[in-house]
Amino acid sequence: MPAAGRPDKLRLGVLASGRGSNLQAIIDAIEAGSLQAQIVLVLSNKKDAQALERARKCRIDAVFLDPKPFKDRPDSREAYDRAILEVLTKHEVELIVLAGYMKIVTPVLIKAYENRMMNIHPSLLPSFPGLDVQKKALDWGVKIAGCTVHFVTEGVDEGPIIIQAAVPVLEKDTADALTARILEQEHKLYPRAIQLYAEGRLRVEARRVSVAGLDSQPAGALISPA
Ligand code: GRF
Repeated sequence: MPAAGRPDKLRLGVLASGRGSNLQAIIDAIEAGSLQAQIVLVLSNKKDAQALERARKCRIDAVFLDPKPFKDRPDSREAYDRAILEVLTKHEVELIVLAGYMKIVTPVLIKAYENRMMNIHPSLLPSFPGLDVQKKALDWGVKIAGCTVHFVTEGVDEGPIIIQAAVPVLEKDTADALTARILEQEHKLYPRAIQLYAEGRLRVEARRVSVAGLDSQPAGALISPA
């Protein structure tokens, strides 16, 4: 974990496969001064990921790492992650930020970046891991959905939880509408989680992440339907 008050800014490496709206939220938070960090690399497994475009626009190193040359090897996923690790090391990345990265990360990366790799997921974990989860939450009939930022461990969407936002499900909700309202919260949540890390306030003890300096938290409840 970085020490609090370090003079140089935390070096982020963002892995993304698609649209990159979370990447954009992180860029915007850095520009607005609410996140003290720098993005030194955006890497994608998809050549035409919009996330790469967004990075280039901001003059951030944008790397497309083609998975195809690795695909016939028996250890293709690990070999690909070793190649990623090389790029991350070259850029001296301190914290990996998965932002819509649609590839399973192997222990090659997880071990090298233990408690130094975050992911954002559009559900209140441990409910609804996996894909298409906003629709699954709606179909299940939950009244409160949300999103989670967590450290990455080997179990998919199972790592220690850093921060969550609860989003009420509305009476006439559709999957698209719920997804959009959750995404709005994701864009606030991810920069906040990274800032807590940058301030050296996160401690991982078994499954629990404790956050330093949270002495006077409100203890209310969100009731849905209100
Ligand atoms: C987000 O909903 C995120 O929670 C999930 O993938 C989506 C990525 O969206 N892991 P974007 O590429 O950041 O716009």
